[in-house]
Amino acid sequence: MKRRINIINKLAKIKKMNIAVLVSGSGSNLQAIINAIENGYFEGKLTIKAVIADRDCYAIERALDAEIDTWMVDRGPALSKEIDNICSDNDIDLIVLAGFLSILDAEFCQKWDKQIINLHPSLLPKYGGMGMYGEKVHTAVLANEEKHSGATVHYVTAGVDEGEIITQESFEVPEDADLLWLKNKISEIEKPLLLSALKKIALGNKA
Ligand code: GRF
Repeated sequence: MKRRINIINKLAKIKKMNIAVLVSGSGSNLQAIINAIENGYFEGKLTIKAVIADRDCYAIERALDAEIDTWMVDRGPALSKEIDNICSDNDIDLIVLAGFLSILDAEFCQKWDKQIINLHPSLLPKYGGMGMYGEKVHTAVLANEEKHSGATVHYVTAGVDEGEIITQESFEVPEDADLLWLKNKISEIEKPLLLSALKKIALGNKA
C-alpha cells in the first residue's frame, strides 16, 4: 500500500500543468508567459491550454499569434459558467487572471478554490477591491503620496482582491513620479513576479 501511494505522488509531480489565462487588455503579461514557456523557464512543466477574453482586446491577437486556443465570452450573467465550462473541458489546473476586468461569481471561486490567481498592480491589501484596477490604482497611490508601491500575486476568492497573497514586489516611489512613471514601473516588475509565482506553483519546491 505504501509503495502505491509513492507511485501516485510521483506521477502527480511530473504532471504538466495546464493553465487558462483570462484577459481583457493589451496582454503584455500573457506575452511574458508565452515567451517564458518558449524559453524553457518552466522546464516544460506548464502549458497555456486556453486564453479567454471578456472583450475584444489586443491580448487575443497575441494568443492567436502563439496558436493558443482562444475564446471570447459574453460579459453577461452566464460569464462564470461559460468560463467554468471551457476550463473543465480543457483539463485546466490553474486559472491565471492577467488583466482580467470581469468579476467571477462566488460559486465559480469556490469550485476553483486555490486554482485561480490574480495579478494586481498594488501592494494589497492597499488599493484593492471593486473598481480598483489599472490607472485608478496608480492615480490613488499618487494622490495619497505613498512612499512605496508594487504588485501582488494572490489567490482569488469571492471577495474582490481579498484572497491569500502568494508574493509581492515593492519599490520606492520617487517624489517626482507621475502616472506614466508608475504605470511603466509596475508593468516592468509585475512580469517577473507573475512568472516566479507560476514557476513555484508549477514546479513546487524545485522552483
Ligand atoms: C496589469 O497591470 C495587471 O497588474 C492588471 O492589469 C494589467 C494587465 O496588463 N491586473 P496586460 O493586459 O497584461 O498588458
